[in-house]
Amino acid sequence: MHANIPHAIIKLMILQSILNLDQSLLAKIELLQTDFFVGIFKVITNVGSSTVIISFTILLLIFLLAKKEIQKFYTVAFTALGGALTVILLKYSVMRGRPDNMLIFEDDPAFPSGHTANSFVFFMLLFFTLKDKIKNKFLKYLFFFGCFLSTSLISFSRLYLHVHNPSDVVAGIMVAIFWLIIGLNLSEQFISLKNAVIKFSYKYILKPILFLFDAELIHDLFVTMGKILGSNFVTRFFTRAIFYYKNKMLEQKILGIKFENPVGLAAGFDKNIHMYKILPEVGFGYEEGGSITGEKCEGNPKPRLWRLKKSQGIVVYYGLSNKGADEISNRLKKEKFSFPLGISVAKTNCERTAISQEGIKDYVKGFNLTKDIGSYMIINISCPNAHGGQPFTDAESLDKLLKEIVKNRNSKPIFLKIPPDLKKSEIDDVLEVSKKHKIDGFVCTNLTKDRTNQKMMSKVYEKNIVNYGGISGKPVEDLSNETIKYIYKKTQGKALIVGVGGIFNAQDAYTKIRLGASLLQLITGMIFEGPQLIGEINQGLTKLLKKDGLTNISQAVGIDNK
Ligand SMILES: Cc1cc2nc3c(=O)[nH]c(=O)nc-3n(C[C@H](O)[C@H](O)[C@H](O)COP(=O)(O)O)c2cc1C
Repeated sequence: MHANIPHAIIKLMILQSILNLDQSLLAKIELLQTDFFVGIFKVITNVGSSTVIISFTILLLIFLLAKKEIQKFYTVAFTALGGALTVILLKYSVMRGRPDNMLIFEDDPAFPSGHTANSFVFFMLLFFTLKDKIKNKFLKYLFFFGCFLSTSLISFSRLYLHVHNPSDVVAGIMVAIFWLIIGLNLSEQFISLKNAVIKFSYKYILKPILFLFDAELIHDLFVTMGKILGSNFVTRFFTRAIFYYKNKMLEQKILGIKFENPVGLAAGFDKNIHMYKILPEVGFGYEEGGSITGEKCEGNPKPRLWRLKKSQGIVVYYGLSNKGADEISNRLKKEKFSFPLGISVAKTNCERTAISQEGIKDYVKGFNLTKDIGSYMIINISCPNAHGGQPFTDAESLDKLLKEIVKNRNSKPIFLKIPPDLKKSEIDDVLEVSKKHKIDGFVCTNLTKDRTNQKMMSKVYEKNIVNYGGISGKPVEDLSNETIKYIYKKTQGKALIVGVGGIFNAQDAYTKIRLGASLLQLITGMIFEGPQLIGEINQGLTKLLKKDGLTNISQAVGIDNK
């Protein structure tokens, strides 16, 4: 065992040397032959940072390639370019001075010391690559401390050798803070604390500022931000470190699709489907993109989005603005998605499609162009803001629509998104027609548009709101819950139910699950509570499951509605 350790290190160094033509190999072997522990220490503190980085980057690439996680040429090209640039910069800095002088911008005290930064990158990559493979909690903590100590050792050696250099102190402190955040992320208590801090900052600092501006402007800003954050590895990595939460208790396989957790982004936030790279890092288990329509559609005239601050809801009068099925499908057809993506299809909002036959043709066009993208399809028959209202919620026209849709279907599941304002007899009709056409599930529900519903309107506390558009958030919550409850009971739990409407915390989410929803979606809760809400709900759900003595979320589905 004793002899094996230096053996392994020598092998690693040989590998590094081959990869990087490292001239100092012999010197390192000599160091090992002095005193064993002093040798190890010196090798660790002297090992060429650039060689470590390049070796590990290559190993990591091989690992990712083997797991088929790299599907895009430019991801590989970007990583290789980044790696090459790092190595060139490091080599340049090495050439400037002694072998241990790895500082690139030595005069800048804010720039972290080379050895410290590189060892940090190395051990961080090692930690994140192997973390999830280690199942035992104690071993996971041990592995974390091993990585942390190795970085610290190198950092301290720099401090010991260069006490005069302030950049070493800065680098040491930065590394310590980073490790602290990562280490504490392993603990449930810290995750709760972190979410509480983000929530407080969002609700009392950021949200009051955001809410001063037009709602659609802020919505567009967040979509653009999501697109940028999702476009590269670094911002995805940091977003994940801040928001992501994972727990096996939340995993489900539904209709052949694996969901890491039940919380999805509802249709309407990411209308043109740009955010699928950042949403998994924020902690979402899946996304419902769209609603897209057969033709490009400007939607209704602005303004068309109003916040109801007191009622915790939104009045939505978008009218299905989106870039259209042609453009969206062309952009997405070669993409691979790291989580389940559902595509919501509605009919183009214009006078032509108000005629039933034209409307069906439009749905079919949108469906056909997007059916091979993502994991499942949704037919949205419940947009409250389109020309001609919701003509496909009655049995006869729904039958005609679904007949045409299923003619074109592939093996993917199809769900129907239904309005919260249907009478029980109307829901019965929808269920019967859906059964006939083998529809797999129901998204319950869309926005409410029935302003004559006194119970719902008693939850709208603002006076003088516009008298058109659909309402989301807390005013729709009970209607959504009643629909879930009714459909679960009526179908005896056989249809898949996605619960959406007014989810603002884990208890709201759990109520829907216990009524019969297997999956959940939200928009308004995130806008009012902040982006940490997704992790908060997922963590909260695991606590609620444990409290009820359950081991997986699927065991709670419909438990209050048997
Ligand atoms: C801004 C906005 C846009 C929406 N657009 C769509 C849409 O295009 N298609 C759709 O099926 N639902 C749409 N919805 C409805 C939501 O998907 C969801 O059913 C509803 O908002 C209730 O959930 P919430 O209370 O969590 O927001 C939209 C909702 C909002 C707030």
